Amino acid sequence: MSKILVTGGTGYIGSHTVVELHHAGYTPIIIDNLSNSNLQILDQIEKIIGVKPEFHQFDLCDEAKVLEFVKNNTDIQGIIHFAASKAVGESVEKPLKYYRNNMFSLINLLQAYQGKKIDFVFSSSCTVYGEPDVLPVTEAAPVKKATSPYGNTKQIAEEILAETAEANANYQVIALRYFNPVGAHESALIGELPLGVPQNLLPFITQTAIGKREKLTVFGGDYDTVDGSCVRDYIHVVDLAKAHVAAIRLLEKGNPNGKYDVFNIGTGKGYSVLEAIAAFEKASGQKLNYSVGPRREGDVVQVWGDVNKSASGLGWQASLGIDDMMSSAWAWEKYLSENPIG
Ligand code: WQD
Repeated sequence: MSKILVTGGTGYIGSHTVVELHHAGYTPIIIDNLSNSNLQILDQIEKIIGVKPEFHQFDLCDEAKVLEFVKNNTDIQGIIHFAASKAVGESVEKPLKYYRNNMFSLINLLQAYQGKKIDFVFSSSCTVYGEPDVLPVTEAAPVKKATSPYGNTKQIAEEILAETAEANANYQVIALRYFNPVGAHESALIGELPLGVPQNLLPFITQTAIGKREKLTVFGGDYDTVDGSCVRDYIHVVDLAKAHVAAIRLLEKGNPNGKYDVFNIGTGKGYSVLEAIAAFEKASGQKLNYSVGPRREGDVVQVWGDVNKSASGLGWQASLGIDDMMSSAWAWEKYLSENPIG
């Protein structure tokens, strides 16, 4: 079975992608330094797919370790590269940590595979669009000046990948620009596992509902939107994981659109924060304790994706709706409350 390297494969999106790769008949191999995840996730994945994925623990910033792995693993068909620091707020406080980690790890990987045939799928983000001028935002929209070092590392990475793909005959690259990943696997055995106080909306909602947090603050209620709160395109993490399998399949066949391509991975529908809260309350049956507070610095007001290119070019589209996103996130939070991980 074709081996696919999944860097950051014990993380939130990585672990769900490992599961979907297995279901699609691939053999996922994980590299992770466990800086933002937990070894127990391997046991959780095994409970779902029946086998424990091959796992290598090291930091991709260690060039020697990357070269040694590539020398000893010559049958890797494709790479899905998730491993990166991804907290927007932290990146503003510690930019050098983000540029070092996110750029060195990518460059070490690309250099190690120079001259070899490799299909490369990159975890990018809608954050490259900033505040789009036109909604829904298409892949042809201009990349705007990043509003955080985290967002800038995604933009720089896309440029490095585009140029490397053009310069290397055997490289093919697809960058997937995620909107907002939420939810958990239907088994409730894997899901989002934020370390410390959650930065992202959904884990904060579910931790408030389960009683780990006192109250959710809605960051801003006076924006020029449907109800004053920010609008996002939330995408179920399982749909997102399946988009990575679709990208590997497209690269296997050869992408007629070129050696470097980008796709929006979202649902094409925007929900405000208040609408997301209402959807959570409906799906979980839990009343949420929240109040509307001041805006969060750097927040984009409204963004949701045009996903026509993903449907036509990638052969993928989201199938899980907001109800599945909320109910699966809630089931995972309840599982964690009885089965703590990490
Ligand atoms: C969503 C909405 C907040 C918390 C970031 C990155 C993106 C991706 C996902 C990595 C916003 C509001 C949040 C809270 C709130 N990162 N909110 N109260 O900022 O859209 O995207 O995370 O892959 O690249 O940019 O996600 O979940 O932080 O916020 O009101 O306690 O929820 O203001 O409108 P964001 P988020």
